Amino acid sequence: MRFIFIFLSILSFSFAKTSYEKGKELYTSKVCYSCHGHKLEGMNTFPRLANRAKGYMAYKLKRFRSKKADTQAQEMMITYSVDLSDEDIEHLTTYMYDYVDVISKESYDYSFQTHGDGGS
Ligand code: HEC
Repeated sequence: MRFIFIFLSILSFSFAKTSYEKGKELYTSKVCYSCHGHKLEGMNTFPRLANRAKGYMAYKLKRFRSKKADTQAQEMMITYSVDLSDEDIEHLTTYMYDYVDVISKESYDYSFQTHGDGGS
């Protein structure tokens, strides 16, 4: 019996996802990237979402969810927010606030090479 308990605990622990990971999945599955970009960097009139105040982002998403928009441009967001649960918003805003651009970080590391003769 105890063995089964330990086994199940390990199993559930290894499948547990962080809020950041869940937010990332939602961001992809709800196609938020098509306007706000894969790196949450925004595009033209679509605002940047990376590392922005979590409370404010949650406030905006809940407003959009209740079909309230302050400008005509914001009305576009209503469609993408109506089916979000409070939990979804929590995960999405965690992902936005904590967002780390892994791709740029790696490319920076690769481009920094100290070996070679420096072209002289
Ligand atoms: C069809 C394009 C489009 C898609 C898809 C989209 N958005 Fe937006 N988003 C917008 C526009 C347009 C605004 C409002 C810009 C403005 O205020 O002028 C906005 C605003 C926001 C804001 C408020 C930002 C601010 O500065 O006030 C948040 C947060 C947000 N979007 C999150 C999301 C999330 C999360 C998703 C996916 C569930 C998503 N968006 C999908 C176009 C889009």
